[in-house]
Amino acid sequence: MAKLKAGVLISGRGSNLQALIDACAAPNFPAEIVLVISNNADAKGLERAERAGIETKIIDHRAFDSRESFDTALDEALTYAGVRIVCMAGFMRLLSEWFAERWRDRLINIHPSLLPSFRGLNVHERMIEAGVRFAGCTVHFVRPAIDEGPIVIQAVVPISPDDDAESLAQRVLKAEHRIYPAALKMVAERRIRIVGDKVWISGATAEPGVMYNPSPEEEG
Ligand code: GRF
Repeated sequence: MAKLKAGVLISGRGSNLQALIDACAAPNFPAEIVLVISNNADAKGLERAERAGIETKIIDHRAFDSRESFDTALDEALTYAGVRIVCMAGFMRLLSEWFAERWRDRLINIHPSLLPSFRGLNVHERMIEAGVRFAGCTVHFVRPAIDEGPIVIQAVVPISPDDDAESLAQRVLKAEHRIYPAALKMVAERRIRIVGDKVWISGATAEPGVMYNPSPEEEG
């Protein structure tokens, strides 16, 4: 079967983009990245894409006078490249309702918490402050409301008493790098069905969750 064409939206470092690039490099991976768009010309992720020979495009939001006109430019670039699934990977712009609806069920995001807990920014800091025992990350389909939408996969990351926001963020990030390619794979294999607000995955007895508890060597 033909590979599903993915577009990735980034704003910065692009480590999740890298995880997706690495996964797509496997000959039997069911998706391929055909375009990486950044709203920020300095995004490190752009270099990662270029190194992998993937087409990149900078669409700077500051050059547009409204959110809608920026989103229209995004939409046009994605459509022109033949993108069928859009992966947001550290894309730091709020998308308009128009864009979210236009790409409904074809737009996924990764968020560094166990949604619906801890939406928004600075989540690791807020988790440590709240004293929760388990952190994690979520890949979900995007809906107009921020950090909301049907959940594809989650990973749980235990918090240790001596974690600070940075050490926790690093461990959660490793889990992100595992689940984002796994989510894209399931989508590309057409195993996902969205029923109401929930994702059902064929071939799975339950919606997948991953317990990510790295060994000390792996963490080091
Ligand atoms: C990740 O923690 C992701 O969950 C969040 O933004 C961060 C992006 O990191 N949405 P990177 O650019 O993929 O390294």
